[in-house]
Amino acid sequence: MKTKVLVTREVFDEVLEYLSQYFDVTSNPSDVPLDPETLAAKLSDKQGALITLSDRIDAPLLSRCPNLRAVCNIAVGYNNVDLEACRKARVMATNTPGVLDDTTGDFTWVLILATARRLTEAEAHLRNGQWEGWKLKQFLGLDVHHATLGIFGLGRIGQVVARRAVGFEMKIIYHDVRRVPPKIEQACRATFVAKEELLGQADIVTIHVPYSSAAHHLIGKQELERMKPTAILINASRGGIVDDVALIEALRKGTIAGAGLDVFENEPKLNPGFLELKNVVLAPHIASSSKATRLKMAMLAAENLVAALTGGSPPNLLDPF
Ligand code: DGY
Repeated sequence: MKTKVLVTREVFDEVLEYLSQYFDVTSNPSDVPLDPETLAAKLSDKQGALITLSDRIDAPLLSRCPNLRAVCNIAVGYNNVDLEACRKARVMATNTPGVLDDTTGDFTWVLILATARRLTEAEAHLRNGQWEGWKLKQFLGLDVHHATLGIFGLGRIGQVVARRAVGFEMKIIYHDVRRVPPKIEQACRATFVAKEELLGQADIVTIHVPYSSAAHHLIGKQELERMKPTAILINASRGGIVDDVALIEALRKGTIAGAGLDVFENEPKLNPGFLELKNVVLAPHIASSSKATRLKMAMLAAENLVAALTGGSPPNLLDPF
């Protein structure tokens, strides 16, 4: 009998075809996110799963899936997976690092430029028929060129963002839990500074750290108050790293000038406060969403699953036990 796997959300046909060479595949072509009860029921007789960030893998779920041996996330972030619970249940967990760095870095620049130059606000004005003609002081924005870019997290994606900044002749400062090797600092032309210094100096603060309990509300009321009133905040990392309530308040009061956001607390439920604000650019978690990159992510996750369940070594095993 073939090994059984579940693909929890809609994926590309070539990914299903590849998995079907090895496994008996149950898929979810309707793409409806599975609630915890349905996910547990569907996984109860499976050996493996291709999962996404809408699937929570934790101890209660694992206790109901005695045959499960691998969960392979189609994402580099894996805060939807309790690694400790996986280790105890001897379930391998994998992610998809590397393949989405450039695309996510590109989209960070979409957010930086759109927020600094108030593009979505200006477009709404035009679409609503409010434009009465050219005005000297219309939609005055922030210059990106020669500005100071502050990067939280100079990992793979942070480095891509820094390298793209060179063309804008920016000053680049960064903060991270530890300094990156000098070779990387030089390649990125980035200078390490303390968190407070970054917040106080940067015209554009952009976040590229993975979510963890230590990174929860890394940017809250206090941090926003340290930023320049002319500065903008960009987040294409994970919801929960920024305190959304504090950010909405800061955007309302003009503590900072604007924000560009691809991720939110409690996705997909957006805090309605964001919708009332003009000085925020909003995107529905699409930073890695180019056709080529999403295919690479899904394929890499599938390769991890095949390796895990055929006795190989998954290329992106998160926590060997
Ligand atoms: C990731 O890979 O973690 C992205 O957020 C998924 O879009």
